[in-house]
Amino acid sequence: MKHLLGVIGQPRAMLEELLQLSDSFAEVNARAIPKVPALRGRTVATLFFEDSTRTRLSFETAAKRLSADTLSFSVSSSSVKKGETLRDTALTLQAMRIDAIVVRHASSGAPWQLARWLDCSVINAGDGWHEHPTQALLDCYTLRRHFGSLDGLRIAIVGDIKHSRVARSDVWAFTALGAEVTLVAPRTLLPPSLEGWPVQVSEDLDRVLGSSDVVYLLRMQRERQHEALVPSLREYTARFGLTRDRAERLADRAVVLHPGPMNRGVEIAPEVADLDRCLVLDQVANGVTVRMAVLYKLLAGSAADPHDAVGDEAWGPIRSGGSDG
Ligand code: NCD
Repeated sequence: MKHLLGVIGQPRAMLEELLQLSDSFAEVNARAIPKVPALRGRTVATLFFEDSTRTRLSFETAAKRLSADTLSFSVSSSSVKKGETLRDTALTLQAMRIDAIVVRHASSGAPWQLARWLDCSVINAGDGWHEHPTQALLDCYTLRRHFGSLDGLRIAIVGDIKHSRVARSDVWAFTALGAEVTLVAPRTLLPPSLEGWPVQVSEDLDRVLGSSDVVYLLRMQRERQHEALVPSLREYTARFGLTRDRAERLADRAVVLHPGPMNRGVEIAPEVADLDRCLVLDQVANGVTVRMAVLYKLLAGSAADPHDAVGDEAWGPIRSGGSDG
């Protein structure tokens, strides 16, 4: 495996392998010093053409915990402002002997294009409305840790499906791992065609609520909406928001997920976002773990054994105050 571009079309076994590998790194993250030398000498660059808080910090944290060096490229302060093309920017990074480029871009397909141009590994950190594979992996990992398995889980994905790369990747990953997915949204926030999507669709959150194990809320992506797709945000909240009243009607074991950033008061009531059953911060913590697994899988080489990488012996010198790469 050289790149992680998407999860759509990936077999269950590949997803499970990455989730299993994540367990080794969850163990590392629970240590007093959560750092191993597994990727010492490797360099990971983040190349973000769109805003991000958690995805970028999460990849950088993951790379540092594996002792890789990190470079962070910000479009707003780069030569892209002077008209440099994506290809030239990427080749420039590669010429600095970068091992992996983590890319977020507003154009769907940009990571695939980079993978054709470059010799280094490419990881998709979100491309347009298309895919966000590490978000899907961290969501699966969060549910697997909470419920033991995704098999048979009933998951409602609620909100702006049309503009959501998270929804596209999650639908595939959740169903590949055995969950049943229902999309809940007004028609205007669904993609024009759902042909081939392994999902049920509902326009009535209240009907789906009581029978869901997981309510996955999406952000209203106002920066991607160029027309009035809902009459008003207040009306959206009234029909599709997880209000306090709706949260009280959730099944006992149900949990709430959100990829962040949350619009408190729009898709989720402020007090619901702070409930124990809202696993948003678990998602963030698991994001680092899963991204460590992905970087390790792509960069450590096929012969590497994760037990060697995370075992006490391998990281002993760090714990005893030695070099941290
Ligand atoms: C999402 C994204 O940017 O795709 N956020 C994230 O990566 N955690 C979802 C969003 O912006 O709504």
